[in-house]
Amino acid sequence: MKFFVDTADIDAIAKLNETGMVDGVTTNPSLIKKSGRDILEVTKEICDIVSGPVSAEVVALTADDMIKEGRELAKIADNIVVKLPLTWDGLKACKVLSDEGKMVNVTLCFSVNQALLAAKAGATFISPFIGRLDDINIDGLELIEDIRTVYDNYGYETEILAASIRTVNHVADCARIGADVMTAPPEVIEKLAGHPLTAAGLATFMKDAEAAGIKIV
Ligand code: E4P
Repeated sequence: MKFFVDTADIDAIAKLNETGMVDGVTTNPSLIKKSGRDILEVTKEICDIVSGPVSAEVVALTADDMIKEGRELAKIADNIVVKLPLTWDGLKACKVLSDEGKMVNVTLCFSVNQALLAAKAGATFISPFIGRLDDINIDGLELIEDIRTVYDNYGYETEILAASIRTVNHVADCARIGADVMTAPPEVIEKLAGHPLTAAGLATFMKDAEAAGIKIV
C-alpha cells in the first residue's frame, strides 16, 4: 500500500520523507489555510521534496473554471495531481484533464456510485473519506470494501486512495481491505511504528547488553 501524507506542513513532510515511507502528498484548501502559505508557493516546495504524486485542489465550481485552474496547477510540477470535487462539474473536468494526460484525484467521495462515476471519468485516484463517515455513524471502511469490489468487478484502474484517516487502526484496516493508497496526517503515520512491547523489549535488550559489556557502535 502506498503512503501519502495529508498535510501542507513542509517541515512535517521533509521529516517523514527521510524515513523513505512517503509515496506522495495530499493537500486541500483547509490544509493550505492551516499552513498560512500561498498555495502555488507551498505546493511547489512540496513537489521539490517528494517525487511521488502531490494533490493540489481546485477551488472553482464550474467545469470550465476547474479545467482552467487544473491546467494552471498542473504547471507547478510534473508530479502534480489535480484534485477535483465529486460533483457533475468535477466529473466533467476529470474527463477532460485525464484525457489530456494529467493525473486527477476525485475527492469528497462518500458512496460507491460516486466512486463508480469517478472511475468512468478516468480518475487516477478516488478519495473516499473514512473519518467523516465514521463521524456520522456510517462505517467508512465498508465503503472502501465496496469500492474495491466494484472496481475489481470491472477492472477499473482508478486507485482507491483512502482519505480522512484518523487512527492507526484505519491504516491497518485499509491495508487488509486492499486500498491502493492511504493518506493520513503526519501524527498518524508517526504512530505506525510504535508498540509498547517493542519499547519494553528494546529497554530489556539495552540493559542486558550493557550488563554483558556488549559495545558494537
Ligand atoms: C484527503 O485528500 C483529504 O485532504 C483529507 O484526508 C481529509 O481529512 P479530514 O476529514 O480529516 O479533514
